[in-house]
Amino acid sequence: MKKVNIGVVGCGNISGIYFKNLTQTFLNTHVYSCADLNQKAAKAAAEQWNIPRIQTLEEMLEDPEIEIILNITTPQSHYDICKKALLAGKHVYVEKPLSLSFDQGAELVRLAHEKGLMLGGAPDTFLGGGIQTCRKLIDDGFIGQPIGATAFMLCHGHESWHPSPEFYYKKGGGPMFDMGPYYLTALVNLMGGVKEVTGMTHKTFDTRTITSQPKFGTVVEVEVPTHVAGSLRFTNGAIGTIITSFDVWNSTLPRIEIYGTRGSLLVPDPNTFGGPVLLSTLDGSGFKEIPLTHIYAENSRGLGVADMAQCILEGNRNNKASGALTNHVLEIMCGIHESDETGRTYVMKSSFDRPEPLPCGLIKGYVR
Ligand SMILES: NC(=O)c1ccc[n+]([C@@H]2O[C@H](COP(=O)([O-])OP(=O)(O)OC[C@H]3O[C@@H](n4cnc5c(N)ncnc54)[C@H](O)[C@@H]3O)[C@@H](O)[C@H]2O)c1
Repeated sequence: MKKVNIGVVGCGNISGIYFKNLTQTFLNTHVYSCADLNQKAAKAAAEQWNIPRIQTLEEMLEDPEIEIILNITTPQSHYDICKKALLAGKHVYVEKPLSLSFDQGAELVRLAHEKGLMLGGAPDTFLGGGIQTCRKLIDDGFIGQPIGATAFMLCHGHESWHPSPEFYYKKGGGPMFDMGPYYLTALVNLMGGVKEVTGMTHKTFDTRTITSQPKFGTVVEVEVPTHVAGSLRFTNGAIGTIITSFDVWNSTLPRIEIYGTRGSLLVPDPNTFGGPVLLSTLDGSGFKEIPLTHIYAENSRGLGVADMAQCILEGNRNNKASGALTNHVLEIMCGIHESDETGRTYVMKSSFDRPEPLPCGLIKGYVR
């Protein structure tokens, strides 16, 4: 099968699963080169995953063999690298969040459109078997008309396990910008776009102490709110509630629930690709687990990149984890924080086309 050449920028903590899936799972992707400011990290990745060359970002952008730049650097570098790559005529897929501000995100979407290029972004977990099954249940009418949703991501931050967790407490970090994309991307895929949001935010701890290695004992100044609550009014009239927190030690709240006129759906953890999916309908028998209707239930990070590669091979620009989708999610997150500052409802400006579901009956390695 024909493969699309990808240049990967950023060889840190999350890169391994991308390298694994783009070199071993998907049949249409080829990791052509990798880059990192930290030469050691780039070298280690190239050795572990048999990547044929290490380049600088500038070399990648000048290399006509590369079609997609996969930007999996820390959030503070997302906008600059995406912009340079689009200006150099490359398609771009970026880890979340798309950028640090909605204006930056909107500029990237505009630029990609002007240049006839695809922009796409994480997360692609909504293309996994779990959330695709939920999508099918909703689209097929099992819960009737969606009227509401709740989403909760409550934990105590990432400094106990991530080797370099400082970025989670700088602009572009915090629980909403870090974890909100999983929950919001799932919600808007399942329910459609959002037209207005309100929010309240709080910072409970001024500093964080890293307890993971190798930076054990390092104290990090917290620059962003770490407990963030938002309300969302979807364009279909449904109302959503989301709380994301790095301040909570423990919780029993569900990940995502969707409520409809004829039933309720328990959506699996949107930071994973699998189930379980539980459905409760009007028959009164309570929640029952539904077998998954779609594949990619294991960690399939890179599925959105493989889908972008397939669009290139087919000559279209309809990538599912699209720039418009990731920018809509970015605007929701920015809107929640802005609403806290202004005390007003934030009215959304962006919209996106709800991506087509993946087909049932796919064979692993393929995206169509
Ligand atoms: N770690 C996770 O579990 C995880 C999960 C999902 C998504 N993400 C997202 O993936 C992205 C990366 O996270 P991570 O945990 O791998 O971070 P990391 O700090 O472990 O790795 C980032 C790498 O990018 C490199 N880098 C930064 N700026 C660069 C630049 N301008 N040019 C070249 N290289 C540059 C750094 O040297 C580092 O090696 C973030 O956006 C994060 O939100 C992380």
